[in-house]
Amino acid sequence: MDYKSEIASKLAEITGIESEQVYKLIEIPPQVEMGDYAFPCFTLAKTLRKAPPMIAADIAADDRLASLGAMSAKNVGPYVNFFIDRSFYAAKTVDSIIKAGDDYGSDNEGEGKNVIVEYSSPNIAKPFHVGHAFTTIIGNSLAKIYTKLGYNVIRMNHLGDYGTQFGKLITAYRLWGDEKALNEDPITELLRIYVKFHEEEKKDPSLTDSARENFKKLEDGCEEEVALWKKFRDMSLVVFDKLYKRMGMEFDNYNGESYYAKMADDVANMLKEKGLLVESEGAQVVDLEEYGVPPCIILKSDGTTIYATRDIAAILYRHETYNFDKNIYVVGTPQALHFRQVFAVMKKAGFDYADNCVHVGFGLVKFKNMKFSTRDGNIVLLEDLLNEAVAKTREVIEENSKARGQDMTKEQIDEIAEKVGIGAVIYTYVKSGRERDIVFSWEEMLDFEGDTAPYLMYTYARIKSILRKAQEQGIAPARGEDKLSILTSDEEYNVIRTLADFPDAVKKAASSNEPFMISRQIALVARNFNRFYNNSSILNADSDEQKAARLALCEAVADTLKSGLDLLGIGVVERM
Ligand code: ARG
Repeated sequence: MDYKSEIASKLAEITGIESEQVYKLIEIPPQVEMGDYAFPCFTLAKTLRKAPPMIAADIAADDRLASLGAMSAKNVGPYVNFFIDRSFYAAKTVDSIIKAGDDYGSDNEGEGKNVIVEYSSPNIAKPFHVGHAFTTIIGNSLAKIYTKLGYNVIRMNHLGDYGTQFGKLITAYRLWGDEKALNEDPITELLRIYVKFHEEEKKDPSLTDSARENFKKLEDGCEEEVALWKKFRDMSLVVFDKLYKRMGMEFDNYNGESYYAKMADDVANMLKEKGLLVESEGAQVVDLEEYGVPPCIILKSDGTTIYATRDIAAILYRHETYNFDKNIYVVGTPQALHFRQVFAVMKKAGFDYADNCVHVGFGLVKFKNMKFSTRDGNIVLLEDLLNEAVAKTREVIEENSKARGQDMTKEQIDEIAEKVGIGAVIYTYVKSGRERDIVFSWEEMLDFEGDTAPYLMYTYARIKSILRKAQEQGIAPARGEDKLSILTSDEEYNVIRTLADFPDAVKKAASSNEPFMISRQIALVARNFNRFYNNSSILNADSDEQKAARLALCEAVADTLKSGLDLLGIGVVERM
């Protein structure tokens, strides 16, 4: 039930102001006593040539508001406050959530539309560190959010699998590679020989030539070099896939830079034919002055293409293959200029779908008082972060389980710790606006009372335990609007309001590419639920009707939490 839109269209009718504009003005008052929605009349004073309190009084007295049904309006100073009829609202909201189940929040706004979400895109033969986790987690969440809204989502992993570094790796591997070490831990071994190459290169410049030669052979498709490159790529992918699987994600397309490198010459030719290439210091560039960005290099002075050329090839490919409605790049903010240039080149070349390409940036990852046994110097590997988070979570779960006298098996505890630990890491990436830097600290991310995944997952598990207990006692949750209309206490109502706003949060998360809109909403749901839980009895409520209705509210909260956590990429556990 979208009350806000309904109020907006009524107010538009009464004031003669456009409904969209009215919609934006409508506020949600900070206190329940001030109503559910408020319309401030300040901005109308000029157009209507009346004092705001007078306008508010006129609106509140207008007969046309009556048709809003189940809602009353009252003017207070310059505001018109709208009060929803609580029984009506509770019944409608809870009933619709229970009917939808985990599907709550889904929509068909995206029907028939293709959205590409490019995310993760790590570099082959390089460690997968906590920075890559940012794009991986945000991208996975966005893919889920768009899917929930009915879009056909294509998950793309634009692997960094091309470049002169592969010539270096081939040379290094032939000189110092250790097959056994490679099989055991490919990325560590590849990193070892890569670092060694750079050290040795300083003493022996012939290595540079050898690497260049090997890269050339690779480009020309020479069998042995291609085979080695493919081996490095495949082995890296096995490592990456293990991480993806552990975090419950997958991709539809792994075409990396090497795939587009083949098309990059066509891109250069196409731009040349359109007369867009100009020479600059020996290179061929597209001038982008009219777009307010520096020129984009297409061909270097030696005639080879660059990262940007491959990205242009990729857009052409993506459009041809998927005819996208939106093409989203979840890539760190330092690459913002790169994408502005690439999109501007497309626009200048006359491809208007460049306007449907969006760069979604994010901040940096930092650590507060955290020591890691890192394998690779200063960078923190995602795998290490996950392992430590799971181990630490395990300790807490074990302790809690003992304290509550639960008899969980080792396997049960392992499974819960894995899900909660990973959930805690994922949540840290999505709990704030994505452009903010994130700071990891164990105390914060594993705080079972804080703004954390463990808190949300624990709230879910607690509800599940109440529902199990109810079943044992033979109490069934209420069904049907007439039975739910008694959920009108302040605490119940606060929960129901946050539940009702969930679908809107999902839509906003998509329109702003911000998973945080969802984490914020379900965190509110959980807070309000726990306040309700601490102040009201559920299984010991006064009447059977009340018990049943409150159990139904519990179900609705569980459904919403599960749906929201899933959209963030976090699974739930039934007990913890
Ligand atoms: N592989 C790059 C990196 O790790 C990110 C690729 C971003 N995607 C793109 N289409 N350029 O920095």
